Amino acid sequence: MSIPPQHPPKAFPNRPQFSGFMKPCRIEGEVLNLEVHGEIPEDIDGTFYRVMPDPQFSPFIQNDPWFNGDGSITAFKIKDGSVSLKQRFVRTEKFVREREAQGALLGKYRNKFTDAVKFKVRTTANTNVIHFNGRLLALKEDAPPYALNPHTLETSGLYDLDRQLPSLTFTAHPKFDPRTGEMICFGYEAKGDGTPDICYYRISADGKLLETVWLIAPVVAMIHDFAVTSNWVLFPLIPQLCDIERMKQGGEHWQWSPETPFYIGVLPRKGAKPSDLKWFRYQNSFPSHVANAYEEKSGHIILDLGLSEKNVFFWWPDAQGNSPEPSSIHSQLTRFTIDPKSEQVDLTSTKVLQSDNSEFYRIDDRFATKPYKHCFFDLMNPALGTNFAAIMPQLGGGYPLYNALAHLNIETGETEIYFPGTTHMVQEPVFIPRRGSIVEGDGYVMALVNNYVSMCSELHLLDTKEFTNAKAVILLPLRLRPGLHGNWVDAADL
Ligand SMILES: [Fe+2]
Repeated sequence: MSIPPQHPPKAFPNRPQFSGFMKPCRIEGEVLNLEVHGEIPEDIDGTFYRVMPDPQFSPFIQNDPWFNGDGSITAFKIKDGSVSLKQRFVRTEKFVREREAQGALLGKYRNKFTDAVKFKVRTTANTNVIHFNGRLLALKEDAPPYALNPHTLETSGLYDLDRQLPSLTFTAHPKFDPRTGEMICFGYEAKGDGTPDICYYRISADGKLLETVWLIAPVVAMIHDFAVTSNWVLFPLIPQLCDIERMKQGGEHWQWSPETPFYIGVLPRKGAKPSDLKWFRYQNSFPSHVANAYEEKSGHIILDLGLSEKNVFFWWPDAQGNSPEPSSIHSQLTRFTIDPKSEQVDLTSTKVLQSDNSEFYRIDDRFATKPYKHCFFDLMNPALGTNFAAIMPQLGGGYPLYNALAHLNIETGETEIYFPGTTHMVQEPVFIPRRGSIVEGDGYVMALVNNYVSMCSELHLLDTKEFTNAKAVILLPLRLRPGLHGNWVDAADL
């Protein structure tokens, strides 16, 4: 354990990840009747929940990455054309104990050997927020979820599925079956730091554990997102590897491995035995978020996800300290076609669905696990006209930047672009179905936008029938740090 600092730092370090737009926000509170420019359609009735890493205290370790901050949940409630926001930190063990100590106690990202005290659970709960079985769950892949009241955002405590949770960890990207509401989950390093165990499990819509399968990964790699079809689940392994001995010496949890292929584990979704797991391999590359997966009539699996030839997590270099120049990293929406019955596990071909540098793929969730044709995401295209010279001093750093929202029609290959402005960057979008419509992609897309001139955040709302223009721009009187993920919850489901 590290020695707790006698006088914890009161100011945040003078580093890009704590500067400009990335300066911690740390506000809890409520704002009613946000300023709306344009018109919010009357049929939108629900809440957009999102979470951002927002450190309560300045870290005592050097160069802490921006996503090691405490999870802070923002809820944007929309009804009758008006919007209110509520924001509250998740009361994790880390948050509560640091508040008591009035300073940081947690050390390096996912390295308990660098902490100033011993935590039972050291999660920051800062990666995703989902609504399940009457609760909000704040997720980070290193621990069980924290449960919150969806109306007040008060934390009720760790959510262990009424003591049914089989794994020490819980993915930040569980999937939902749109027909049954079943939640499909997994945890990796599921028996503790550095263990190769993956625990796959399914939970019924009313919170009952349906099935658990224990698996072993070929390497102890990061498994950030995964994919689900009607009959299969797929685990994409990011070639960032964990070594417990390195961690004990105070090193990083993760190290890029250029020798490791991109493994994709394929397992039957229901009734599987550990021996049913098959590992497919593709050349060393970095898989980012999954858009969707489904099965073709032939039985082949379609897997659509972001893929980069280079290490997207450049701040965790390889053993020699090599990492790509951040501006050279290019991730594209890429399709794999996999025959789960094939003995040939080496995958050699992919199809690029959209060639721009993109991330944060979202779909009409009613089509999750099924054939689909509409995908919404963030992209970076400097040719769109962003005034980088003007906003550079305020950008802050440590995270990738995206200057537009995209709508890809996968069937036609056509991409529509929404450009929010020359001094703006976008965060992850969410899709809101139009009330009463069952047509895929018919509805609205909403995303938080960073305005580097006002240095405040905005919510931009688009109608998918007229994607290139905003239907409404909602101004926030504060600056929200870039977040990770969020979800729309219809009022009827709350
Ligand atoms: Fe994610």
